[in-house]
Amino acid sequence: IEEKANKYLTKTSRALLNVEDYHQQAKQVLPQMIYDFYSTGSDDQLTLNDNLQGFRRLKLRPKILIDVSSHSTENSINCQTQLLNSTTIISFPCIIAPTALHRLANNEHGELATVRAAVACSTIMCVSTTASTRMELIAEEHRRHIKTNYPQSTSQLWYQLYVLKNRQHSQKLIERAEKCGYKALVLTVDHCHLGNRECDVRNNFSLPNGIQTENLIDDHDYDSEFAKAYRNTVPIDSSLSWKDLKWIQSITSLPLIIKGIIHPDDAREAIKQGIQGIIVSNHGGRQLDTCLSTIDALPDIMNAIRNEKHKIDVYIDGGIRRGTDILKAVALGAKAVLIGRPILWGLAVNGAQGAQNVMEILKKEFQLAMMLCGCRTIEDIIKNDLVVMNNRN
Ligand code: FNR
Repeated sequence: IEEKANKYLTKTSRALLNVEDYHQQAKQVLPQMIYDFYSTGSDDQLTLNDNLQGFRRLKLRPKILIDVSSHSTENSINCQTQLLNSTTIISFPCIIAPTALHRLANNEHGELATVRAAVACSTIMCVSTTASTRMELIAEEHRRHIKTNYPQSTSQLWYQLYVLKNRQHSQKLIERAEKCGYKALVLTVDHCHLGNRECDVRNNFSLPNGIQTENLIDDHDYDSEFAKAYRNTVPIDSSLSWKDLKWIQSITSLPLIIKGIIHPDDAREAIKQGIQGIIVSNHGGRQLDTCLSTIDALPDIMNAIRNEKHKIDVYIDGGIRRGTDILKAVALGAKAVLIGRPILWGLAVNGAQGAQNVMEILKKEFQLAMMLCGCRTIEDIIKNDLVVMNNRN
């Protein structure tokens, strides 16, 4: 019996059951410089940690004696979620956040692995300006994988934009994204200058040979002025301001989502500017340290825009590691969450399958949390008044 128990223990302790298991496994397999680049934050990493702790501080008060038995053909809770005025449907309220350079986690396939996971899980992949694969190739793989393996998938691609100092180059990025089928433009606004990431400085972080920010290399011409300008740096325009939104809106018909809002006044201003969505985000604690954690920022933002006529989607990212975290975010008014590092851990451990596993783990945990809170639908999560804000712990 002891032998059997030991075997079982070894087996189960090796099984990757949750996001933190994937994190620990990724730490084993990634070179230190890359692991640090992915995992750390700015200055003293207080915001990085507070994003995680913010969710833990919030407590749930479940509703009981509600019939939560099978309500869908899958024999589990239906948590399909509609976004952007119902033009977009995802299988549960969780999206892949834009993160740089996926080939650092999975050299062979990089973003092409991530996009397969997004298709398999019927969710959105938001592709970074600083991806290590050209956006056209990611879009092609997205179409191919849906057609060949997942014809029912409702997955979509969004494109994350850093506005570059050269506005013509930025315009070109937007036009390329629109042309190859991306469905929304996510404008990141919390990055007017790179945050102080001391770990990368200590490690003398540099890109391994053969990996680069491919979207910034024009038409595969590695010797063009465009390519030379972006080989080692991404010159983000620190002069970007509210008035530039009109310019962006004038050159694209894609829905515009602003990523990096923490202050309620900015949420209100975004609505005034006629945008379609905001992402409450502090860049995963990589930019301004001691910035408010995102889940702590969410309630004031929801309050600030409650009475606005023009309704927008509010998303949130930063520190989401459990299904209960997703449930708390939705309960406080978010349409969906985005996850950054968890996907990188999945990619590092087992490529496309690893990223897919991470998504599926979160979906299962989310469905279980819904049931245990007496929720049969996404709407129930909001109605049930589940989150206690000022608990005494
Ligand atoms: C990011 N993030 C980010 N955001 C963005 O708009 N464009 C980008 O290129 C990147 N790149 C990037 C690289 C790495 C390694 C990380 C960890 C993060 C921020 C990202 O979109 C998201 O806001 C956070 O990752 C969310 O926090 P969690 O889920 O990582 O805790």
